[in-house]
Amino acid sequence: MTGVQKLENSKRNKIQAYDLAIHDWYQFILGYPPHLVRHYIEKFGVSKYDIVFDPFCGTGTTPVEALKNGISSYGLEANPIATFASKVKTYTDYDPDLLLEYLAYIRRSMESSYSNYGIVEPQADLFSYKARFCTIKVKDIINLTESQLQVIPKGFISPKPLLKVLIIKEIIRSIENKDARDFFLLALAKFIVKEAGNVRFGPEVGRTKPKSDIESIHSFTTIAEIMINDVQKTKLTGQAQIMQGDARSLDKYMTRELVRGINCVITSPPYPNEKDYTRSTRLESVLLDFIRNKRELRGIKENLLRSNSRNVFVSDNDSRYISSFSSITSIAQEVENRRLALNKTSGFERHYNKIILHYFGGLYRHLKTLRPYLARNCKLAYVVGDQMSFFRVLIPTAELLGEIAESLGYRIKEIELWRTRAATATKMQINENVLILEKK
Ligand SMILES: C[S@@+](CC[C@H](N)C(=O)[O-])C[C@H]1O[C@@H](n2cnc3c(N)ncnc32)[C@H](O)[C@@H]1O
Repeated sequence: MTGVQKLENSKRNKIQAYDLAIHDWYQFILGYPPHLVRHYIEKFGVSKYDIVFDPFCGTGTTPVEALKNGISSYGLEANPIATFASKVKTYTDYDPDLLLEYLAYIRRSMESSYSNYGIVEPQADLFSYKARFCTIKVKDIINLTESQLQVIPKGFISPKPLLKVLIIKEIIRSIENKDARDFFLLALAKFIVKEAGNVRFGPEVGRTKPKSDIESIHSFTTIAEIMINDVQKTKLTGQAQIMQGDARSLDKYMTRELVRGINCVITSPPYPNEKDYTRSTRLESVLLDFIRNKRELRGIKENLLRSNSRNVFVSDNDSRYISSFSSITSIAQEVENRRLALNKTSGFERHYNKIILHYFGGLYRHLKTLRPYLARNCKLAYVVGDQMSFFRVLIPTAELLGEIAESLGYRIKEIELWRTRAATATKMQINENVLILEKK
């Protein structure tokens, strides 16, 4: 029995303290833990000469864990801030001394800029040490535009914390070294989520009680110091290349090296569960300029697998790829029948059956476009959850995905139970599985 299976169910999806380094710089609520990646690296016998690929890499758990194990990897992700996080986390050439110097510069600049704004911080330690610094003035602050404000859910951040975030952002932007700049921008993303914003992550993303003000100098510095400490103590070996794009059309992004053959895929596509993945990263995406208006938000959603009613569009047609799979079409039909029986008429509910069809159609496209890049005997692990979000009709995701995979030249090796969890609506225990495939 490997380490991962010894963990009890409640801990299986939790990152363990010894795994926090780098992974914890910025994480997705819906990500999987590093020990799961390690488990499949071991189980598949992946060696340092192999290439691991994660086509839905989120905030980079697979590529980071591969590098921690001396294995090169590739990642693809459609959400720009998650792609950015994966890139920053897999950069292997940071100079910790330089980062510490920049951190002193940021801290001193925060103190100086705050005093310029008349902001008094509870724990500010004004000018107590030597460092170069800049003072951000009112004219330097690039305030949020109306179009940006429109895409931030109401109440996600209060005015004083927002001003502090904007000041820190301008200070970081004045750093000339791009890798260091990106490093601190990721620290700021974490600071926005953990400290500045009024955002709560439950099963759904929601609002906390508004924080009218926050301490920021000490808390931002602490986040950055922990990250620098991780750089000092963590050895990453190999290379990672992270791309932004849509895993349903890999041909647009694949590079020559990848064409040589991927030996292992460890990944987790979104689940068909009514969760809007862009909402859980929305605040920091807008504040750090990854999304500037509704049009850009829509562009991102169009590149995602259809998994919820907020990212289904009139022109969608992924459903046509699975029209001959009666196991899938019959589930979609059952959802629609239940909607009619329950007399549910909202626009969202009318989409539920289509989501299921487009979702599996999108995964069909993904597996089809992936296959030519795989080395012989490539092993693949797809972590997917069964779902009951649409009028409580059970969607056995791993089984259905396996059926699609078999039709495209993959062999199902096994479906491993990863863990069980309570369905949001019914509290019934449903399975989260790992579908293990092999290229035929
Ligand atoms: C379950 S999360 C993966 C989390 C990841 N394993 C981690 O630990 O951070 C699924 C990811 O797939 C991304 N995604 C959804 N549709 C995509 C697509 N068509 N192409 C690439 N990425 C996509 C989402 O933005 C999300 O980051």
